[in-house]
Amino acid sequence: MKPGIKISVRGLNLYYGSFHALKNIGMDIPGCEITALIGPSGCGKSTFLKTLNRMNDLVENVSVTGSVKLDGFEILGDIDVTVLRKRVGMVFQKPNPFPMSIYDNVAFGPRIHGIKKKSVLDDIVEGSLRSAALWEEVRDRLHKNALEISGGQQQRLCIARALATRPEVLLMDEPTSALDPISTMKIEELCGQLKKNYTIVIVTHNMQQAGRISDRIAFFLLGELIEYDITRKIFSRPKDERTARYISGKFG
Ligand SMILES: Nc1ncnc2c1ncn2[C@@H]1O[C@H](COP(=O)(O)OP(=O)(O)O)[C@@H](O)[C@H]1O
Ligand SMILES: [Mg+2]
Repeated sequence: MKPGIKISVRGLNLYYGSFHALKNIGMDIPGCEITALIGPSGCGKSTFLKTLNRMNDLVENVSVTGSVKLDGFEILGDIDVTVLRKRVGMVFQKPNPFPMSIYDNVAFGPRIHGIKKKSVLDDIVEGSLRSAALWEEVRDRLHKNALEISGGQQQRLCIARALATRPEVLLMDEPTSALDPISTMKIEELCGQLKKNYTIVIVTHNMQQAGRISDRIAFFLLGELIEYDITRKIFSRPKDERTARYISGKFG
């Protein structure tokens, strides 16, 4: 594997029953960069993202072939998915804090992984909330119910919750599509900060967002990876005519 590559995908095929949802995907995702997945609805972006931490295991009738390696380690085989999901965290489109306090949301993962000591949990909660750019806004109300904060704050809380188990990769599926412009901007800025320490793979519907935050763009269409390149090239000199049409807004 090339140095600097965090996730290496080869010959990946995924079927929902007989429906061929991902077709022979090959992709090398570098570490400590932001890779954006774009393409029209239903092209397989979420499906691809979920293969990276085996969330598709939860769907019935899924079959997957090919190879996905994380730091050279095959993740599609018989592995402990709990360990994998600790290394590869996920944030969803709709903020989904648990109906419990802000503190307990962030401490949830670490507690599952056996951390009980209050001082250790306190440090993890503060550190994760700081990393998610939320600490200053909630430090005085850590024991309030997480459902009482705004949608934008809830999404940053979900990011903090994902960071609390110290993942290496953060998967984000349209994390700002339910948010207002200011919250969206905060999350975009946050992604720029986080990529210093984390590998981020983000699905976005928003081409401007992909252009603002990503280092690389992967364009999917009908289950195929049409083009994957550094963001500047995708925008200035796309190789495939379908990519050119999509980024210029001609379909999608
Ligand atoms: N659980 C599922 N069962 C059957 N088909 C699914 C399931 N999830 C997604 N699909 C289908 O797979 C294709 C890709 O879906 P998805 O990955 O959600 O696309 P995107 O995120 O790009 O909008 C779509 O045709 C969708 O209908
Ligand atoms: Mg999707």
